[in-house]
Amino acid sequence: MSKIKYLFMFVLLTLSLILASCQATPEEPVTPPEEPAVEEPAGGQLEIFSWWTAGGEAEGLNQMFEVYSAMYPEVEIINATVAGGAGTNAKAVLATRLQGGDPPDSFQVHAGLEVEKYEPSTYLQPIDDMFDPAVFPADLLDLLLYEGHYWTMPVNIHRSNVLWYNPGLLEANNIAVPTTMDEFFEACETLEAAGLIPIAMGTKDGWEGAHVFEGFLAATLGADGYRGLWTGEVPWTDPGVTEALEHFQTMMGYVNSDHAALTWDGAGEYIIADQAVFMIMGDWAAGWFASKGYGDFGWAPTPGTGGIFVGLSDAFALPQNAPNEAEAIRWLEVCGSKEGQEAFNPAKGSICARTDCDNAAFQVVPETYAYLTSAAEDWASDAIVPSVVHGAAAIESWATDFKDVITLFVTSGDVPGAQSALADLCVTAGVCQ
Ligand code: GAL
Repeated sequence: MSKIKYLFMFVLLTLSLILASCQATPEEPVTPPEEPAVEEPAGGQLEIFSWWTAGGEAEGLNQMFEVYSAMYPEVEIINATVAGGAGTNAKAVLATRLQGGDPPDSFQVHAGLEVEKYEPSTYLQPIDDMFDPAVFPADLLDLLLYEGHYWTMPVNIHRSNVLWYNPGLLEANNIAVPTTMDEFFEACETLEAAGLIPIAMGTKDGWEGAHVFEGFLAATLGADGYRGLWTGEVPWTDPGVTEALEHFQTMMGYVNSDHAALTWDGAGEYIIADQAVFMIMGDWAAGWFASKGYGDFGWAPTPGTGGIFVGLSDAFALPQNAPNEAEAIRWLEVCGSKEGQEAFNPAKGSICARTDCDNAAFQVVPETYAYLTSAAEDWASDAIVPSVVHGAAAIESWATDFKDVITLFVTSGDVPGAQSALADLCVTAGVCQ
């Protein structure tokens, strides 16, 4: 063989070897998300702070931990949870830790005005550099931008205004799924006469009543009217607010008598046990039902809110002086990744914050699959309005006072008193005159 021919053969062989090694085979593992550009080698502990202790939420978080741990096995995750739905207890503990110079590496916070509670310019770091607005929907970006920066990485989108029901009990009593408040209360009347608990509710943590009530406000005021309450364009003296309070009072006549002793998930047990028919709760309830192995639930918008999606989003923040900042950044990258969100959301009962998740990935939790498929469709077509109880619509002090007024209303039933207190809160918040 001549020298030239030999060289030619050698080049050909090398090229074909390179090409073969580039070709994907069906067995090839899925490429994990790219590692973030942080200098430090992975290691140490990573403390993640949240209130996700109930079924579904705990599982979802764990799924995301698994994605992170597969990438950074050297790091020990500290799962720092403070129980109490909607962060009732966790938010205060967190604020104390931040003010005391003892931040976790990353913590849960809702997208929206809730971030104001943690004084971002003092206690948080903007995450603009690692944040890719192109992968998130516009409605969510509006919520996330605060004082010109992105401070938190969103992991999901939840819906607040959902009416869960036990289909077997509805059918056995010949009741169609109610779409209006009148139909809802008519159904409750029939169910009560049949010896059932019409509505399962827990009010133990002090936010659940306000959660239901925000949906009632959306029902009586419509999407624009509801939005206007939080921007000062619609006065709290509006008759729609009166009507929502009256509906709420009527509803309390149909709930389980032990509501004050139960949390939202504790009350949900009545549905699973075929003792109660309806429950108004956010769609983390779907994740919770699934964690109980109960997939036979039905759902509809809170009566009167068809076409309205009262939305919220869970996100994670990067505190100033996070003890292990390099890992906190890597955690946020996982939170924002397609892989992280596809692992987290099917168990959590929420849809992805990202717009590019594969619906098929959600089949992994069969109990939530049909619901989440419909939630994704509604999110794409409904009017989106922000939840107040879950941090999106108002600053935290207003949201907290709002919860307190409704908690008081649960026992007082004083419609004019509650309405004038609600009107005062808007003034205190600096939004109404
Ligand atoms: C919400 C939160 C959800 C769920 C729920 C009940 O505030 O956004 O993710 O955890 O509380 O705890």
